Amino acid sequence: MTSDESPSGAPQRATPPHGGTPPHGGTHPQGDTPPHGDTPTGSHHAGRAGERSVAAAFALSMAAALGLAVVYWRGGQPQLEGTFLALALGGLGVGLALWARYFMPHEDVEEARKPIASTEEEIELFREEFEQGERILTRRKLLVRLAGGSLATLGAALLFPIRSLGPRPGKGFKSTPYRQGLRLVTSDGRPIKAADVAVDNVLTVFPEGHVDEGDTPTLLIRPSGTNRPRPGREQWTPDGLIAYSKLCTHVGCPVGLYQAGEHLLLCPCHQSTFAVLDGAKPLFGPAARSLPQLPLRIDAKGYVVAAGDFSGPPGPGFWDRDRP
Ligand code: FES
Repeated sequence: MTSDESPSGAPQRATPPHGGTPPHGGTHPQGDTPPHGDTPTGSHHAGRAGERSVAAAFALSMAAALGLAVVYWRGGQPQLEGTFLALALGGLGVGLALWARYFMPHEDVEEARKPIASTEEEIELFREEFEQGERILTRRKLLVRLAGGSLATLGAALLFPIRSLGPRPGKGFKSTPYRQGLRLVTSDGRPIKAADVAVDNVLTVFPEGHVDEGDTPTLLIRPSGTNRPRPGREQWTPDGLIAYSKLCTHVGCPVGLYQAGEHLLLCPCHQSTFAVLDGAKPLFGPAARSLPQLPLRIDAKGYVVAAGDFSGPPGPGFWDRDRP
């Protein structure tokens, strides 16, 4: 039998002379002062110093997180932001490491079997240790609050980069500048008259005043065949003119090729093919959605104008797969 074994053969460590249990539930071998300084007789100074170190680390972390938020709010400066972020995370990490060093028990503890009933001496000792522990716990509340404050401040500072995502898109993906009565113009701003579009010809047009906007390019076609309008679109093709968004519904390439004989629009990127007389439904290729159609009207002066916005959002649908 070695010195580490009990008479029954079970391994155990030395029991403190009083056989009692300190507040954290362990025994201290041979009655030594534990390194965390929680004993009533032991290193109060070490405990106080540890508390101050932990509090300073958490306070530094909070101050740095606030600094990070302020720098970001005032327009940002990468070097300063990096420094503050490092200090905020570093302070938090150092605080937690010091906490573990000073206030967490480090020794392996076991409790030998012994009679269940405590002696008067053990009860008295426990009371003293409990009261001492209660005082320590009260001081630790401040550290817990500081740790919580440090995490909360850092979390708040990390919310600021959301602003970097830019303005909210709002309805930007689902509507274009086309409005009822807005004239269709060429890329140089010239309004189009219905008579300007020859049979089997195709023009790229835009809403007046919005030539440079990415979702507005439109194909204005006068096909020679008979249009088969979708329900509700019977009035959208005055004088045989028909208009579709020029942006392919696959990944947004310009649908630039018109096969007049077959009344087909072709996208050169991946060969999606759309039937002009059937609401530009896709016949071939990876595009799964029809080109959005623009309702048209001819105004009193013979100009082609929009009668509203497109039938659906132009361009690819990967950011909003449920749209029509
Ligand atoms: S972008 Fe038109 S087919 Fe791919």
